[in-house]
Amino acid sequence: MSAEEFRLLRDHVYSHCGILVREDMKFVMERRLWPRLEALGLRDFAGYHRYLRYDAQRRVELEAAVEALTTHETYFFREPGQLQAFTDELLPALQQRNGALKRLRIWSAGCSTGEEAFTIAMLLQQSRRFEGWDVLVYGTDISRRVLTTARRGEYGPSSLRATSPEHVARFFLPLGANKVRVKDDVRSWVTFEQLNLLDEEACRQMPKVDAVFCRNVMIYFDLPARRRVLQVFHDRLVPGGYLLLGHSENLLNLGADFELVHLQGDLAYRKPPLLPRGTL
Ligand SMILES: C[S@@+](CC[C@H](N)C(=O)[O-])C[C@H]1O[C@@H](n2cnc3c(N)ncnc32)[C@H](O)[C@@H]1O
Repeated sequence: MSAEEFRLLRDHVYSHCGILVREDMKFVMERRLWPRLEALGLRDFAGYHRYLRYDAQRRVELEAAVEALTTHETYFFREPGQLQAFTDELLPALQQRNGALKRLRIWSAGCSTGEEAFTIAMLLQQSRRFEGWDVLVYGTDISRRVLTTARRGEYGPSSLRATSPEHVARFFLPLGANKVRVKDDVRSWVTFEQLNLLDEEACRQMPKVDAVFCRNVMIYFDLPARRRVLQVFHDRLVPGGYLLLGHSENLLNLGADFELVHLQGDLAYRKPPLLPRGTL
């Protein structure tokens, strides 16, 4: 892949999904996209770039390219400290806020194969605070392939590596061959949709939510892409709604209109409430 081919492909991928392939990742890009060239019978990356721009199948192929370039690593009960703070401090606040309506909406943005969205639903059920409520967790991802796995709801040991035996017994049915399936009562609280977080118009179709989890997604974005995605979250959150990021992520230098919420042992962000500040 020449430097020019790399630049063209990188810019094309970036403008579609915000993922910035760093200069030193040229060889990784080459290795990951090469099977796509072979599958299409193309001889070089200039041809592949032309295909992505002009072929009738370009949208399908762009999805395949993004698929090849993204990582979908995830598992149940990831980042337990944050989940504990969510359970102990944010859920009581949300229960109180929405008590009159008995309705709760949570968005797992960049949910990959679904473990995060299901984990949230499990925590909600375990808290018993929302019994009889209208509860929905939206799992969205740019990749259709991971969403097929999410909708199936069947997982192996790698997905369960941080799940306690008690949680396995409570929330999963054994399937044999080292596989389990998420129980139906949890699944009924979760729905999955394909969504590119950089597609502002599509994101505006998302319902308003009380909290957004967007963990380990924006690490692949550069500053302008992060700003755009944060604007989307700000727009979709109700006033006083929470934003939870991954541990290596923060809103420094982003100038986003969120306030920092200090939780015991963790941090979250909040869209400023309409009510006076100072209460959770
Ligand atoms: C590393 S996984 C994180 C999964 C989960 N949030 C977690 O922390 O365990 C990152 C996910 O972000 C998705 N992603 C990357 N760019 C995206 C975009 N522009 N819109 C939506 N999802 C995106 C990828 O497809 C991938 O499944």
